[in-house]
Amino acid sequence: MKPSVSVLPGFDLWPAALSDAAQAALVAEVLAAVESAPFQRYDTAYGKAMSVAMSSFGPLGWVSDKAGYRYADRQPGTDRPWPAMPQVLLDLWAAYGDPDTPPDSALINLYRDDARMGLHQDRDEVDPAFPVLSISLGDTAVFRIGGTARGDPTRSLRLASGDLCRLSGPARRAFHGVDRIQAGSSRLVPGGGRINLTLRRARPADVTV
Ligand code: SIN
Ligand code: FE2
Repeated sequence: MKPSVSVLPGFDLWPAALSDAAQAALVAEVLAAVESAPFQRYDTAYGKAMSVAMSSFGPLGWVSDKAGYRYADRQPGTDRPWPAMPQVLLDLWAAYGDPDTPPDSALINLYRDDARMGLHQDRDEVDPAFPVLSISLGDTAVFRIGGTARGDPTRSLRLASGDLCRLSGPARRAFHGVDRIQAGSSRLVPGGGRINLTLRRARPADVTV
């Protein structure tokens, strides 16, 4: 593993961690998964559809509707389980996330056109000792990250295809979001856009998944 760039305490970036072949293989995994778990644009708790389309791999998928944000073991609408977590994601988590406890969820985010994600904290996971590991594929994202209070100063950085980043420790609950994508900056994703995968351990370590 190459050394990371420490952007902020607890926020590490590994530029170009994934080869072109590894990126293409992950996109193929995503396209296969969304055959059985199609992308959906969930409503926020405020009732407005998100601009980012989502699906998930693994025992749990992150979902949202007017009842709020949560992890669910079934896809909204179809009530089917989510597609299995690909081995390559388990391996990346073991190397960059946590060597002992596997992830139980990989959220798949698809950004097309003017999709964006407002500043938020990831706080639906029980144990913040586990990091969030993020994989960027396709168009470059203009990513923003600040501190653990909403009003803290933020900084902006680019996440390009093949980059990995991790929120852990003091940055695990940092506010972050995606201001926009740079459309056309990559040709990796069929139809264009950006796919982001976020691997997480949502349940406590002692829950068998
Ligand atoms: C997220 O915060 O869930 C996604 C971040 C990203 O798309 O880079
Ligand atoms: Fe997030």
